[in-house]
Amino acid sequence: MCLNTGFGLSSISFTIIIFIIIFFIIIIIIIIIINIIVIINIINVLSLVLQVGNRSVTMALMILPLIGSVSVSETLVAMITVCLIYMLMKFLHTDVPEGLRRLPGPKPLPIIGNALELGDRPYLSLTAMAQRYGDIFQIQIGMRPVVVLSGHETVRQALIKQGDDFAGRPDLYSFQFINEGKSLAFSTDQAGVWRARRKLAMSALRSFSTLEGTTPEYSCMLEEHVCKEGDYLIKQLSSVMVADGSFDPFRHIVVSVANVICGMCFGRRYGHEDQELVSLVNLSDEFGKVVGSGNLADFIPLLRFLPNATMKRFMAINERFVTFVQKIVTDHYNTYDKDNIRDITDSLIDHCEDRKLDENSNIQMSDEKVVGIVNDLFGAGFDTVSTALSWSVMYLVAHPEMQERLHQEIKDKVGLSRSPVLADRNNLPVLEAFIFEIFRHSSFLPFTIPHCATKDTSLDGYFIPKDTCVFINQWQINHDPELWKEPSTFNPDRFLSADGSELNKLAGEKVMLFGMGKRRCIGEMVARNEVFLFLAILVQRLTFHAVPGEPLDMTPEYGLTMKHKRCHLRATLRSTE
Ligand code: HEM
Repeated sequence: MCLNTGFGLSSISFTIIIFIIIFFIIIIIIIIIINIIVIINIINVLSLVLQVGNRSVTMALMILPLIGSVSVSETLVAMITVCLIYMLMKFLHTDVPEGLRRLPGPKPLPIIGNALELGDRPYLSLTAMAQRYGDIFQIQIGMRPVVVLSGHETVRQALIKQGDDFAGRPDLYSFQFINEGKSLAFSTDQAGVWRARRKLAMSALRSFSTLEGTTPEYSCMLEEHVCKEGDYLIKQLSSVMVADGSFDPFRHIVVSVANVICGMCFGRRYGHEDQELVSLVNLSDEFGKVVGSGNLADFIPLLRFLPNATMKRFMAINERFVTFVQKIVTDHYNTYDKDNIRDITDSLIDHCEDRKLDENSNIQMSDEKVVGIVNDLFGAGFDTVSTALSWSVMYLVAHPEMQERLHQEIKDKVGLSRSPVLADRNNLPVLEAFIFEIFRHSSFLPFTIPHCATKDTSLDGYFIPKDTCVFINQWQINHDPELWKEPSTFNPDRFLSADGSELNKLAGEKVMLFGMGKRRCIGEMVARNEVFLFLAILVQRLTFHAVPGEPLDMTPEYGLTMKHKRCHLRATLRSTE
């Protein structure tokens, strides 16, 4: 099934666009014909009146014969046309306050705007447009204007220095189906509610990732979960290798990563063969393809009313996610014990209970909205990290010399007799540089989640009206030749000192993958730790190779998180000496 409704114009979306264009052309032709008839009637009446010869009488009597000879429906059509044209002009032509400039950008086509120009890799076409129009420009998708921001400094100005002005989320059609419209990341919550929920989510995540491990061997719960899941993953890959001779990396990595976030959110893990979890987490790429910046149904309202298999599927996926989490939340309510807070879900339920006793609490947020935060943590927590790790394995296979260098670093600094832990991070600069370069080079989250202007504002002298949708092109920043030498080359050494012994953290900070400012990812620390530790464990114990005769395809598939095509790889266990 084709689910790519991003700017990415698959054959289905292309057909739909052609259908819309033809539909509107027919409507426009009908309107023009009716208007021609109306005008002919008016001319007929005028010529009749003029034949009378008396000009002043003519002027005075003009209106009456007009009303008499032009039918009511013709007059109505003419009036509606004028109104529509006026509204369209008004919609497309915002008044710009004095002293501010109108945004530059490509000329849009009627109805579909610039959708056709964006192709199936919008991050590339918008990067090319940034070269032409600058770091701030406007495109139109369907009838909706979208401001596109590029360039590290411009994005910093918008998201940090003018953070409040750009902290909103647009009311996109697809977003209302995520977490039943109550998502922390995608909903259009008022600033107060969003801020309170975000604070709660951050605090719950911090508590349950930094909580002490169950044995002194582990510095914190996150480390314990990742080390255990890393072990299971290696056993799982080894047994699949024996049984099938190759494996689909994403299929197995996603279960291990989901188990880490399940451990923190729900206090439980699932086996690699658990069909309920496996089938659910393997749907994440379909989810990402719809919410990636530029889903046409979000911008061309007519598409919502046409049969749309993609949106139906998207709704079904969201329902499955909600049902899965809801069942676990209900179990938690039934077994909740104030004196034994087991996980993030318990801590959110506890927060609701405390609020009920606190007369001064903010009662505008429903319990559902509080406990619903766990949906966001679970959803955001497994898809992004598993995509990062799956790409990492692909880069290891594509760069075998790097794979050996990383293994050697672990062998020298950690040894082979114990598993790597988080405290090893500072001693493994090559691995850290490798991760920075994967984040930069793949830019697998090419855009942040779309933002919107919370009020009429301006950026670098350009006027941006309230509620304008804003795309942040992270891919452009990570491939900007002004920031990076030979940006398309994969080269982890760009993050290392000349002798390769130290990490250049300043260069690392320029990589943009987690957003910036008020909406910056709240799981960044958890994600960076997870990617580091899983990867260290995998590189220490396994060597990854391509399947002979199957060339490695590193082409990303566009979506909110871009994935590589599903493929098969091989792995061999390394010696422990
Ligand atoms: C490599 C992994 C990850 C990457 C690259 C990533 C990236 C991002 C990005 C780009 C955003 C949107 C920022 C914006 O709109 O400006 C975001 C938001 C968010 N992320 Fe992550 N993320 C990752 C992992 C995680 C994890 C592990 C969690 C939680 C356990 C998480 C939770 C969230 C939440 C809740 C938001 C919404 C924040 C808001 O709207 O206020 N993320 N992330």
